[in-house]
Amino acid sequence: MRALSWQGNKLQLLDQTLLPVEKVILELDNYEEVAWAINTMQVRGAPAIGIAAAYGMVLAAQQGLTQDKSKFLSYLDKAKTELAETRPTAVNLFWALERMEKVWKANEDQSPEQLLALLEQEAKVIDSEDLAGNKKMGLYGSELVPHGARILTHCNAGALAVSGYGTALGVIRAAHEQGKNIQVFADETRPLLQGSRLTAWELMEDGIPVTLITDNTSAYLMKQGKIDLVVVGADRISSNGDVANKIGTYGVAILAKYHGIPFYVAAPTSTIDMSLKSGEEIPIEERDHDEVRKIGGVQIAPAEVKVYNPAFDVTPHELVTAIITEAGIIRPPFNEGLQKIFAK
Ligand code: MRU
Repeated sequence: MRALSWQGNKLQLLDQTLLPVEKVILELDNYEEVAWAINTMQVRGAPAIGIAAAYGMVLAAQQGLTQDKSKFLSYLDKAKTELAETRPTAVNLFWALERMEKVWKANEDQSPEQLLALLEQEAKVIDSEDLAGNKKMGLYGSELVPHGARILTHCNAGALAVSGYGTALGVIRAAHEQGKNIQVFADETRPLLQGSRLTAWELMEDGIPVTLITDNTSAYLMKQGKIDLVVVGADRISSNGDVANKIGTYGVAILAKYHGIPFYVAAPTSTIDMSLKSGEEIPIEERDHDEVRKIGGVQIAPAEVKVYNPAFDVTPHELVTAIITEAGIIRPPFNEGLQKIFAK
């Protein structure tokens, strides 16, 4: 299952706003459409946003191709700025755009055609490194999953959110592939229902046992002793181990702590932002109020009701048992563990 793939000179995206009812593949040939797809969440999930933006820069290079090098370079700058303005929280977006920028800054003596080829190569590397990293993360994380585990997850940190395998769902996939006889409970994840529309669908496609629950059911399940561990993804992790992830994650972490259940975060190192001291510095996106007033376009609240709709929250590091990355499992104190990974 792939959320996105580079085909010749176009970016194909599986439109995640329509899943699981319709499977529509979009074919994008310009960076403006990629920016739109990220902003409207046709492509979503921190690593997938970064990969889409990297390919968006390749499309920008195709669009801006001209003999005049300075015009070409300023076109790339403009595209980078517009792609960076699409969503503020997932750091993978900025990480990928900066990797792409390094390529054209380091090779300014090359022709626009050569730069286009180098940018395409870099975007493909970002894409394939993510996939390889997911597989590693899955293997590390599966060591934390006991046989027969009943696992709670929130939002979608699966193949649809990355290059293809998953972070939190990568850990779950690896444990399933090892024959651990696991069961997953998926929070539906209001307002946009990534849990019911995407996680439940993705796991069912792979034959991994999944039970869908409403967001307000997890406390009751934990109280009954029916959850052995929680694993979620992340959009940005600060250097002290605070974790921004889909709204509702913080509540799940508090519930896990209260019930003595391990709370794991699976994320690639591209999601770690060592420039931030704590999660308080992470910008939290607020989205359209109709996402709360409506479900699937159907109004479920007074049309004019006041709404507060933050898309993410921050789980303080004290509530996190371990962070699973492609470079290994990091346990508290996270400051030290994260620093060691980036020192390598
Ligand atoms: O708003 P979304 O759907 O992009 O939010 C996605 C999440 O919060 C995921 O848990 C996170 O990006 C990790 S994806 C591997």
